[in-house]
Amino acid sequence: MGREINQRKAAIIGCGFVGSATAFTLMQSQLFSELVLVDVDFDKADGEAKDIAHGIPFAGQMKIHAGVYEDLSDAAIIIVTAGAGQKPGETRLDLVHKNVAIYESIIPRIAEQNKDAILLIVSNPVDILTYTALKLSGYPENRVLGSGTVLDTARLKYALGEHLSVDSRSVHSFIIGEHGDSEIAVWSSANVAGVPLDQFCEMRGHYNHETAMKEIAESVKNSAYEIIAKKHATYYGIAMSVKRICECIMRNEKSVMPVSSIMHGEYGIEGMCLSMPAVVGSEGVETHVPITMNEEETKKLQESAATLKEIIEDIKL
Ligand code: NAI
Ligand code: 2OP
Repeated sequence: MGREINQRKAAIIGCGFVGSATAFTLMQSQLFSELVLVDVDFDKADGEAKDIAHGIPFAGQMKIHAGVYEDLSDAAIIIVTAGAGQKPGETRLDLVHKNVAIYESIIPRIAEQNKDAILLIVSNPVDILTYTALKLSGYPENRVLGSGTVLDTARLKYALGEHLSVDSRSVHSFIIGEHGDSEIAVWSSANVAGVPLDQFCEMRGHYNHETAMKEIAESVKNSAYEIIAKKHATYYGIAMSVKRICECIMRNEKSVMPVSSIMHGEYGIEGMCLSMPAVVGSEGVETHVPITMNEEETKKLQESAATLKEIIEDIKL
């Protein structure tokens, strides 16, 4: 088992909408010199690899090809996007049984080939599947993370940027908890360039804070439902989110990102994966960052955790 890890090699398991958009984004990013695509449908992986490879002359030299599990043995990052997506009206949690079964077939095969990579989980429900991957892989806890609420946080920053007519990169705010219906917008620590959010809103002529923030949080929470109703899947936003997480890992940036990872007593939450801001670097999740939350936000986070805990107990890994 296990050749020496090639720090410039990544693999994507599952080459549907999300896997292929992620591969296309990673090809353009030039972060990796080799990208392997694995799918239960080999031709799908091969077709996507060949199509994406034709963009290489415009982006920069690298190898992208379809592969099998043996090809994962030296990958530094293994991104898992395999599994069913939501149909219009379905929640992410409705996918749990189908996708846990798929993970039961995939994760042990990955671990058989490679115990030294970082496992980046994207399939839904991402918090439950991050926990599933952690349990089935035997990997150290820091090296199994889910994309979590990185996407929801980007949606929130984008919405606030539009609302306040300011660059979304100057907005500092987090969505935490489940990547799903019980997620929480942490308003109490939100700011624009260090200016508390309410104060910045007033500078931009907005005074109805409570109503506006409620509407923005609801629209962020429901944005995947809206997009899935209109085009059957979401994939560009998540592809950019995965690219950003990969950058952070590959460059050992130690950026603070709301990835999903195992909790050990923070805010009274134990033994399940959900999203909290965390320092992310070359070893994966270094530490959680205890951002300031008010009582109501803490209570909602604990409720989000309780929802996930019930499902974890039900799937009996
Ligand atoms: P899709 O149906 O287009 O693609 C799924 C792919 O997985 C297919 O190519 C299929 O052949 C492959 N697959 C199924 N079983 C497999 C196995 N055992 N081994 C290898 N490959 C296998 O679905 P899509 O739209 O790409 O979504 C994939 C997952 O990503 C879904 O669970 C979806 O909910 C999730 N997702 C997560 C997001 C996030 O923020 N975490 C955002 C968007 C989607
Ligand atoms: C998203 O939030 C469906 O989880 C997926 O776009």
